[in-house]
Amino acid sequence: MPSCPVTWSKGSESLRFVGPPPISERKFVKPDNKSVWIDNALANRRDSKISRREKKAVAALKLPDDKRTLIVGINSQIGASLAERLARENLPFFGTTRNSDNVSDRVIYFDLLDSDVSLPLQDFDCVIVCSAVTSIAECEYQIEKSKRVNVTKTIQLIDRCLANGCFVIYPSSNAVFDGTAPFNLPGDQPNPKSMYGFFKLVVEEHITKNADGNAAVVRFTKIITHQSPFLQSWRENAKMGSEIAAFQDKFFSPIPIEDAVTTLYMIMKKRRAGVFQLGGAEEISYFDYASQVFADDPTALSLLKAVKQPEPKSFFNHYNSLATRLPE
Ligand SMILES: NC(=O)c1ccc[n+]([C@@H]2O[C@H](COP(=O)([O-])OP(=O)(O)OC[C@H]3O[C@@H](n4cnc5c(N)ncnc54)[C@H](OP(=O)(O)O)[C@@H]3O)[C@@H](O)[C@H]2O)c1
Repeated sequence: MPSCPVTWSKGSESLRFVGPPPISERKFVKPDNKSVWIDNALANRRDSKISRREKKAVAALKLPDDKRTLIVGINSQIGASLAERLARENLPFFGTTRNSDNVSDRVIYFDLLDSDVSLPLQDFDCVIVCSAVTSIAECEYQIEKSKRVNVTKTIQLIDRCLANGCFVIYPSSNAVFDGTAPFNLPGDQPNPKSMYGFFKLVVEEHITKNADGNAAVVRFTKIITHQSPFLQSWRENAKMGSEIAAFQDKFFSPIPIEDAVTTLYMIMKKRRAGVFQLGGAEEISYFDYASQVFADDPTALSLLKAVKQPEPKSFFNHYNSLATRLPE
């Protein structure tokens, strides 16, 4: 089918609708070839120079009236697993991505750093904010950029969600504590050592002050999935018969992704506001964890080597556990 491009101006950028406007296709393509999903509000913008035909194209984007869940950052470890769970439960959900290749009729292009792109938040009743710079080191070494994503833009997004009547779920971290004691309680004094933890705390405090019972902060310890990079690298080494180096002086408190997803799912369903925590049952070194992972594989166990962190970073916590506190 031939495409019938439609152009108009949004801010300084020119947007082009690609192809005929079927309802299922909510894709727009920017000149740099990134797809974006236009906020329904754009359809009502009186000041924009949109022809009648173009208005029709935008109107076709309007979602049906039933409300649903939006996972911001649906390709994140948590977002992807939560999406699987919602699909299994037959619950309606949408997601966002920064990768235009992953855009579909369920997945909207959205980059927190792209101030021009907004989301049709009025069509969702629950938003789970999984988008963030999640590398502790990156937050430390690229402070301005990560602060913009993790604080400024995240707070803006959360405020817009709240203004649109969405219940917001914000995954936070044990990094809001300084890690001098294990198993912190939700009411313990936060004292982040890392920028990542500090950013989390700023957003938590914003939510606590402003959400008026419409948001939940859920602090997690380290979540483990099949794709967890350190596990993948250990398995790869085991397969190749190479040494599996694991830190004996770095501790964490792993939780299976399924538990994290069940927690989010429960909070979504109950709409319980507050600050909650999910941590693993134990604080364990990476070396001891590796011994558990390969317990049934004597060959891999023989490749396992306890090593020390080459240069322990001051922004990494010693203890990384949390006392689990969830809504009843
Ligand atoms: N995983 C854990 O162990 C853990 C523990 C405690 C708290 N958390 C928190 O839980 C949330 C999800 O964590 P995760 O480990 O599942 O994340 P992840 O796998 O590292 O993925 C990060 C997500 O953030 C999105 N993102 C990054 N920059 C963005 C931007 N500028 N605009 C829009 N999206 C952006 C990425 O989008 P693309 O996929 O499109 O690139 C990706 O979906 C984060 O807030 C994290 O801090 C995670």
